[in-house]
Order: sequence, then structure tokens, then C-alpha cells
Amino acid sequence: SSEYILAGKKVVVTAGPTRERIDPVRFLTNFSSGKMGYAMAAAAAEMGAETILISGPVSLPVPSGVTRILVESAEDMLQAVAAQYETANYVVKTAAVADYRPQAIANQKIKKQQGNSTLVLERTVDILQHLGQHKTNQILIGFAAETNNVSQYAKDKLARKNADYMIANDVTEVQAGFESDTNRVTIYGKNDFEQIFDMMPKQQLARQLFKLITDREESHDS
Ligand code: PMT
Repeated sequence: SSEYILAGKKVVVTAGPTRERIDPVRFLTNFSSGKMGYAMAAAAAEMGAETILISGPVSLPVPSGVTRILVESAEDMLQAVAAQYETANYVVKTAAVADYRPQAIANQKIKKQQGNSTLVLERTVDILQHLGQHKTNQILIGFAAETNNVSQYAKDKLARKNADYMIANDVTEVQAGFESDTNRVTIYGKNDFEQIFDMMPKQQLARQLFKLITDREESHDS
């Protein structure tokens, strides 16, 4: 059926936050609930794709027809994605990956001291950029969570990370971005492609995004 527009394709989706450990009881993270990424994975599976969902810690059920791999840190996510990359047709990076992690993880719980304390952070690998540098035939789709200069930053990331599409959400907007059941995005692609989507439930948005992307990619193929 024409509904199974991703039949025969392998789609890898990342979702949720990462956790970067400070000590045995503490970590750095962000507000990603996983809802947008899980909706992307559910939509890919509904459309017939072999779907691998690489997920940070969230409390969502595994969507039907999806294989989930649970990870914790940005480094774990990098390893899990890299292992799936060669055979993937589409990679969708919805996860909110930490840009920094503590330079050292304390073996024991860090005790309170007098005065202020400083945590030294080091950069994590930018997974999307790494994938962009090692791209063979995969279609790479990033998300950009921004609070200002949304379109400019999204277009910069599209180019810098060698992605094929960048889906931007303004996370300051009510009922969009982190944790909400709805989202409002603009998708950017190569050659100044740009399309604005209305505010809608993440499930519905995910289906519309895959529809748009597969329509464009299939017309390029032949
Ligand atoms: O999970 P929800 O609560 O539903 O919220 C959804 C969402 C807001 C998390 C999602 O829609 C979203 O915008 N995800 C991307 C968040 C993000 O980290 O954006 P960024 O602008 O920091 O990163 C841009 C892209 O690079 C992303 O595709 C990200 O996965 C990727 N990245 C970033 C850093 C890093 N070290 N490795 C990466 O691969």
C-alpha cells in the first residue's frame, strides 16, 4: 500500500536526553521527555520501516514495531548510533544530547564544603556532525532546539553538520519543544528549502515530516 512509504528502509531515531554523571548520585541532563523522538520512531514503523530507536532515559513505552536500545550518556549514544549507521537509510537525531560532560566522574559522592564549588566540563562528541562527516548514502535529519535566532542557527547547523534536513523548534514557544504533546517546527533543507508546519500533536507532525522527506527523496532518486 502507498501508506507503507518506508517499506524496505531502515530508520534510526535518537530520542530523549542524555545523562552525564558527576558522581554516583548526580548527573547533568536537560528537559527532553522523548515524546518527539518516540513519535518519529512510531511514525517510521507505521510507514513500514525497520525502526531502531536509540533512547536516553525517559518514561515512555516502546512504540509498536520499534526496536529500542537504551543508552545513558552522549558517549553511549554515539557508540549505539555508530553501530547502526552503515546500514541505515535515514537517521533522525531528535535526542537532546549533552554538549558538555564533567571532565572526571567522582567514584564517591562529593561532600559539601565551605564556599562555592566549580565543576570542570569537557566537550562531548557532536554525534550528528560525526555522522555528517562519515556519510555514505544516509539521509541525515537533525533537530534544532533554539531560544533565539531560530532560522539562522538552524541553517548554520544544517551546513556545519552536513545534514540533509534540520527541523527547528523555538523552545520558548508555549506548547512547543520540550515536554509538550504538541510542537511547531520549520524544516530546512539544502538549496534553501524551507517549510513551516502548523502547531499540531507530535504524532501527527512526525507522520507529516516523514511524508515530506520521503516525497522529496524519492523524487531525487529516479
Ligand atoms: O523530547 P521532547 O520533550 O519531546 O522535546 C523535543 C525536543 C525539543 C528535544 C526536540 O524537538 C529537539 O529539538 N531535539 C534536538 C535538541 C537539541 O539538542 O538540539 P541542538 O540544537 O542542541 O542540537 C542540534 C542537533 O545536533 C540535534 O539533532 C542533536 O541531536 C545533535 N547533537 C547535538 C549535540 C551533540 N553532542 N550531538 C548531537 O548529535
